[in-house]
Amino acid sequence: MNTYRSCHSIEGELFFNHLNKIGYCCMLTPNGGQPVLYENYTGELIDWDEFFKKRDEHIELMKRGSSLPACSDCLWIKNANWDKREREFRYILLNVWVKCNLFCIYCSNHKDKNVINNTKEYNLIPVIKDMLEKKIITKNTKIDIAGGEATLDRNFNELLSLLIDNGVKDININTNATIFSESIKKGIEKGVVSVISSIDSGTPKKFEFIKRKNLWNTVWQNIKEYSSGINSKIFNNSVRTKFIIIPNVNNSKKEILKFILKSKKANVSGVILNIDLHWLRQNFDDKKTMLEIIELTKYFIKISNLFDIDWQIWAHIEDLIKRYNIIESCSPIDINFIFDKNKPQKTISDYFFKLVISKFYF
Ligand SMILES: C[S@@+](CC[C@H](N)C(=O)[O-])C[C@H]1O[C@@H](n2cnc3c(N)ncnc32)[C@H](O)[C@@H]1O
Ligand code: SF4
Ligand code: SF4
Repeated sequence: MNTYRSCHSIEGELFFNHLNKIGYCCMLTPNGGQPVLYENYTGELIDWDEFFKKRDEHIELMKRGSSLPACSDCLWIKNANWDKREREFRYILLNVWVKCNLFCIYCSNHKDKNVINNTKEYNLIPVIKDMLEKKIITKNTKIDIAGGEATLDRNFNELLSLLIDNGVKDININTNATIFSESIKKGIEKGVVSVISSIDSGTPKKFEFIKRKNLWNTVWQNIKEYSSGINSKIFNNSVRTKFIIIPNVNNSKKEILKFILKSKKANVSGVILNIDLHWLRQNFDDKKTMLEIIELTKYFIKISNLFDIDWQIWAHIEDLIKRYNIIESCSPIDINFIFDKNKPQKTISDYFFKLVISKFYF
C-alpha cells in the first residue's frame, strides 16, 4: 500500500484557468490556493515530460510534509492511498473563455475586472488533440467545460465532437442555457454529456436582478429540452441546476424552495448548492452569515429530499464548515448532515407540507 501525504487535485487534475494560467485546482484558501504552473499560456503544445517532472517534485514536497506556498493551509492535503494514473488525467477543467451574453452580479469574471481585461481567449483544439494523441486525455478522463459562456465560442461544436469522437465519455458543460445547443442535446442522448446551469433564483424577478436579462422562460425551456434527452439507464447524462447563495441578494428559504420546485418541474436530474466565492473570499470572518448559510444548506437538503430530487453541496461549502468548525455548537448528527446522503424518514408534517406546496405550485 502506497500511502502518503498529498491532495486529489495534484494527483490527477489539470485546470486551464482564466488569466491564461494553468494549475491543479480552483480551491480558495485564506492563504491563496490555486497554485500556478504556467502563466501567459495561449494554447501552445505543452512539454509533458517537463510538466510531469514538475508535478512529481510538487508531490515529493507534500510527501515530506511541506507544500507549494499557495497550498500551505489547504484542508484537502491528507494521507491517503492515491489512485496514481501516471500520465493520464482523471479530471480536466477548461475555464478559458470570458465572453458571455449575461452579466451575473456575482460572476467572478466581472467582479475581478482583471479577468475580463487581461484574459486572452485562445483555441484549445490543438492542445486537446495533442493530449488525446499522447493518451494524457483518455476515455476515463472527466472533462469540465466552464466559461464565460463556452457555447458562444466558434470552436465549441468542434471541441465537443473532438472529445466525443475520441471516446471521452464524461463531459460536463457549465452553460447559462440561454442558447440551445443541438450538440449538447445529442451528447446528452448519447450518454456522454452532462449539463450544469446556474439559475441562482426561484423567481423571474430575482433571476433578472442577478443576471441582468429577462431570459427566465428561455432558460427553463432549454433546460427542459436538455432534460428530455436524459436516459436514466445511462450514467453520464445528467442535467443539473445550480443555486449560488449570494448573501443579501438571494439568501432566502422562499427563493430556494421555488428554485427546487421549478427544477423538479423541468425534470432535471439534480440540484447543486454553492456560495458566492467572491463574497466568501472577502468575508472569511463573518461567522453570523456563515451560520445562516449552513441553515439554508440544511433547508436545501430537506426540500430536495422531500421532493425526491438528487442534491449536491459544492466542495466550497464543505470546506467552509470544516475550516471554521462553524457548527461546533450543533449535535454530531448536524455536523454529519452534509455528507450523509441517506434520505431521512419523512414525517407526517413533511407529507402535509409537501401536499400544500404541490397543490400551490404544480
Ligand atoms: C464562470 S461560469 C461559466 C459557465 C456558464 N456561463 C454558467 O454561468 O453556467 C462556471 C460556473 O462558475 C460559477 N460562478 C461564477 N462566479 C461565481 C462566484 N463568484 N461564486 C461561485 N460560483 C461562481 C457559475 O455560476 C457557473 O456555474
Ligand atoms: S493542496 Fe489544495 S490548493 Fe494545493 S493543489 Fe491541492 S487542492 Fe489545490
Ligand atoms: S452566465 Fe456564467 S459566465 Fe456569464 S456572467 Fe453569468 S456566471 Fe458569468
